[in-house]
Amino acid sequence: MTELFTPSDRDRLVLPPDFRWGVATSSHQIEGAVAEGGRSPSVWDTFSHTPGRVVGGQHADVTVDHYHRMAEDVALMADLGVDTYRFSIAWSRLLPDGVGEVNPAGAAFYRRLCETLREAGITPLVALYHWDHPQVLQDRGGWANPEMVEWFAAYAAAAKRTLGDLASDWLTLNEPYCAAFLGHASGIHAPGIADPATAHLAAHHMMLAHHRAVATLRETAPNDDDTVTIALNLIPAWDDEEGPAGPAAKAVDMVQNQLFLDAVLEGRYPDEVLAHHRRFGLEDRVDPDELARVHQPIDYLAINYYNITHVVRRDGAPFPDGFPGADDAVCVDPPEPRTDMGWGVEPEGLAWMLRRVAAAHPDLPLVISENGAAFPDEVSEDGRIHDAQRIAYLRDHIGVVVDAIADGVDVRGYHVWSLLDNFEWSLGYGMRFGLIRVDFDSLERTPKDSARWYAAVIDANRDRA
Ligand code: NOJ
Repeated sequence: MTELFTPSDRDRLVLPPDFRWGVATSSHQIEGAVAEGGRSPSVWDTFSHTPGRVVGGQHADVTVDHYHRMAEDVALMADLGVDTYRFSIAWSRLLPDGVGEVNPAGAAFYRRLCETLREAGITPLVALYHWDHPQVLQDRGGWANPEMVEWFAAYAAAAKRTLGDLASDWLTLNEPYCAAFLGHASGIHAPGIADPATAHLAAHHMMLAHHRAVATLRETAPNDDDTVTIALNLIPAWDDEEGPAGPAAKAVDMVQNQLFLDAVLEGRYPDEVLAHHRRFGLEDRVDPDELARVHQPIDYLAINYYNITHVVRRDGAPFPDGFPGADDAVCVDPPEPRTDMGWGVEPEGLAWMLRRVAAAHPDLPLVISENGAAFPDEVSEDGRIHDAQRIAYLRDHIGVVVDAIADGVDVRGYHVWSLLDNFEWSLGYGMRFGLIRVDFDSLERTPKDSARWYAAVIDANRDRA
């Protein structure tokens, strides 16, 4: 047991015996090998090769080369002792045409990954969509095209047919808020569209696609122990002057959180979101009855949590980016300390959000599907990475989960973002989120102190079980 794991950690970080410990990654951020094994370009390949889109012109052509180092990476996970590995399939590797025939080399890669995980005693949690849809589908309109709903459902069926004998835990979409609004309103993510109406339309098609995919995953190659979920990034919006119930906070929360919670869990949109649809002229293209018709329950809600959005009211001034409809709110900097992303270190936001969701949906199990932080890790003279800030961040957030469970909130698992340092989207390689450091030149992996600490947390809980 490492000295990093203190007696007070041992006393405090006590989770139920069947609690699932995991790590998370995504295809575009770690795989590389973008032109190998029959993979076609994704929207993120196009976006990152467009000048000015990603810091320093960086891209993920190689990133951390997981495609060729998969076995080594699974061995690193096994050293951590995790129960679960959450990864995503690159849609354009499995279905290079977006629809139609499965690419045998793509299927073989993900089958090998699942087999290697199972041999190591690690349960695969397979995400279908972590933002990297095939460029060929974007050329046909992408999420702005209602046909994307059926393309996604067909892709879900193909993935389940390919991996259904090796994986029974499935996740449809990762962070539809980011995919819709960062991809189509602020345009800071692929496909780089900056039009609020398109963002709301894309969000609607994603919600339809999610429900259709849930049905498809349950019908195709069914297993008794199949589970299906979606990962929502729930970001408390706190008005620094008027609290979470202030009008600015509520306006931001409506688009960031409530839209997706209601559409996923209840198959409907809040009235305020319907008002946005009218305002952006989408009444003829967004049919709330269709959402109600396709609505499917999920087995648990996967929550990604990082930070709080701090807002204040600015009467009449337009909101700068990403929150179409929240015209009276302006984002302000969070209090110190902050991570490299400029995000606050605010475990109280997770505590608040878990209780809010549990109060509205008391019978819904919850899983933290991502939590973690980017810090400026340095390799010390002893060759180790003493990332004390990341350990403190994880300790405080896992502690919040312990308290929530004690209060009766049904939290079943926790995943650190991320296993490895990787390609942080439009911020490139400057943001290091990994438990394991990657030297981006040699691609050598070195577990940080936080990896040793997390392994000790898991180990102590296993000893108790
Ligand atoms: C959430 C996203 O799902 C993931 O891709 C990203 O790297 C992390 N947040 C950190 O920003």
